[in-house]
Amino acid sequence: MSEDEIIKLESVYKIFGPQPRGRALTLAKSGMKKNDVQAATDHVVGMTDVSFSVKRGETFVIMGLSGSGKSTAIRTVNKLHDITDGKVLVDGVDVQALTGTALQEFRREKMGMVFQHFALFPHRSVIDNTGYGLKVQGVEKSARNEASMNALRLVGLESFAHNSPRELSGGMQQRVGLARALAADPDILLMDEAFSALDPLIRRQMQDEMLDIQEALHKTILFITHDLNEALRIGDRVCIMKDGAVVQIGTPEEILTQPATGYVAEFVQDVDQGRVIDVKTIMVDAITTDADATLGQALDAIGERFGAFVVDKDGRPTGLVPREDAVKALASGSTDVSSVLVKDFDSTGAKATFNDVYAEAGKGRSLAVVDDDGKLIGAIHLRDIMKEMGRVERLIDGFEREVFM
Ligand SMILES: Nc1ncnc2c1ncn2[C@@H]1O[C@H](COP(=O)(O)OP(=O)(O)OP(=O)(O)O)[C@@H](O)[C@H]1O
Ligand SMILES: [Mg+2]
Repeated sequence: MSEDEIIKLESVYKIFGPQPRGRALTLAKSGMKKNDVQAATDHVVGMTDVSFSVKRGETFVIMGLSGSGKSTAIRTVNKLHDITDGKVLVDGVDVQALTGTALQEFRREKMGMVFQHFALFPHRSVIDNTGYGLKVQGVEKSARNEASMNALRLVGLESFAHNSPRELSGGMQQRVGLARALAADPDILLMDEAFSALDPLIRRQMQDEMLDIQEALHKTILFITHDLNEALRIGDRVCIMKDGAVVQIGTPEEILTQPATGYVAEFVQDVDQGRVIDVKTIMVDAITTDADATLGQALDAIGERFGAFVVDKDGRPTGLVPREDAVKALASGSTDVSSVLVKDFDSTGAKATFNDVYAEAGKGRSLAVVDDDGKLIGAIHLRDIMKEMGRVERLIDGFEREVFM
């Protein structure tokens, strides 16, 4: 286990049934599919040959349809499930080997868990619900309340600390669940469909809040969802599961632009690619020209591209020479670049998504891609965006519809 990995599953199998280590495991290990193993042995394959590792500080999302093994997988991490075969490591600790108080301490200190339907104690106040885990740990009241208030502040419920859970909406109650997990300040958050019961709008708010919290706290989050949009929105990496097996692991962008199978491609079809693919993926080297160059020289430099930028001595773009304008100006007798220099060109950062830059790109001119210091690092044009979207579409169409078989 390398230093930056905090959770690691190595070829984990989980078979449900009276004899999990019997023939069902042998068949699963030979590569037999979940349904066939079930037909042959009457045992259910919860996980088959599942391997992945989660890096410290990463939000790792497991996504898949109902019954694909997501909950089973997350439960192996805190040993709510024993595994049938393989290995689960958390921060170098072999989780399966833990028992009794060692296991309790490990769960308490290392991780917090949030479920889909988070049960709050109806007769305890919000702050007492939040601090419940700390109370169990024997943390004294003032320290407990301080930690709870901090956690409630993170989820925006500070002012409801002394209310009863019954006075809270479903979304707010779910936030208390998140606050409870955060109160003990664990390294790892395990979240199983934590937002799935919420209305779309509230759900989005919760996702945004979690992204904010994550930016501030850098927890390691193992998040489970059956919603690919949610997965791509919050995940640094996404693991797609089907029938107990891992189908693909990748960044949202990799999943979208390089779906590994038709199954993944089918999911990807419903996703707004522009929300995920970023400028960095397809930007090209920017062409530059001098402000005192001739139009002929500028056009030579531009070649097949859409324009060239003039940069100052620090490498920051100060003007754009669009190819079309240069061609027209040259035809009507102008010779110098300054006659067509566009000063109000648009710029973007490399991390912006296609959706972020559509409006500017739609004007038809090249955008300057700049780094944090404003230096020119590339260029992007609407045509580049369209080309990439078209490539992904064709890729998806190219997969045979092997899908829900
Ligand atoms: N305790 C159990 N006993 C027997 N089979 C189980 C048990 N828990 C899960 N399974 C089976 O393991 C498989 C994976 O279930 P799991 O709960 O991990 O799915 P999931 O991906 O979390 O689905 P959902 O989106 O519906 O929550 C299913 O086929 C399920 O029937
Ligand atoms: Mg589940």
